[in-house]
Amino acid sequence: MVIVHTAEELQNKVKSKKSSLGLVPTMGALHLGHLSLIKRATDENKQVVVSIYVNPTQFNRTEDLENYPTDLTKDIDLLKPFEKKLILYIPAHEELYPDGIKSKKYDFGSLTAYMEGAQRPGHFDGVATIVEALLEKIRPSKAYFGEKDFQQLQVIKALNQHLALGIEIISCPLIREESGLAYSSRNSLLSLEQKSNALVIHQTLEYLNKNAYDWSVAEMELYFKSKVEAIKDFEVDYFSIAEPSNLIPVKQLDSRKAYRMFVAVFVGKTRLIDTVELVRK
Ligand code: PAF
Repeated sequence: MVIVHTAEELQNKVKSKKSSLGLVPTMGALHLGHLSLIKRATDENKQVVVSIYVNPTQFNRTEDLENYPTDLTKDIDLLKPFEKKLILYIPAHEELYPDGIKSKKYDFGSLTAYMEGAQRPGHFDGVATIVEALLEKIRPSKAYFGEKDFQQLQVIKALNQHLALGIEIISCPLIREESGLAYSSRNSLLSLEQKSNALVIHQTLEYLNKNAYDWSVAEMELYFKSKVEAIKDFEVDYFSIAEPSNLIPVKQLDSRKAYRMFVAVFVGKTRLIDTVELVRK
């Protein structure tokens, strides 16, 4: 596996034309969700950079940063099947934050006003700062992000448009475990009992999705909370339904429009997010 730690080393390893260089930014603790992005990136490009960097500025809770799972040996093993095309980039803080670890300030309007943006102050400034640094340094032709972090994806698309580097942002579908639980690095922090109980999140979203356009959003939220908070240590952080383009939560659904449901749930100290596209009847 080619492993580099600086952008300079990385550029020396890039053999392919820049027109066929993919980038998959990650914070490590890789799982099948990441691997689906990496698979798609290696299918579509001659070379692919996978970055592993746990970005401190996007964590608004110190405890969350301190507990964030890391396992580089396991990550490298999981990347082995793709290694012919891969460059693994593991930068140090000074590489990405030469002037000190702090985020830039951005204005993404309504895209960051609600949900993760409201509940995790500064989170998207941190994400945008690091993604901007990675895009600027690596200059891939395509960069791949998962729809599980749908709000992040919309923010990154807006950032990318503003940067105008000619990079294509590729959105990849959310991948679920067989049980329906969305893959997340944070799942490894759950106990077996919490993990099996966490299925309630997707199951309830699916139930609501069958009836969505017949209910008010308040009714759906109440139902979601009643199911999820019936379980010990489970607490709903938010339940929102919004149009994908502006991410402004709505109170009533219009049958002519497309929406997504977004939830965040505390399972003990671990915070899980999930999202599904509403199905129109
Ligand atoms: O989705 C993630 O893993 C992170 O937010 C990202 C995009 C790698 C930026 O640190």
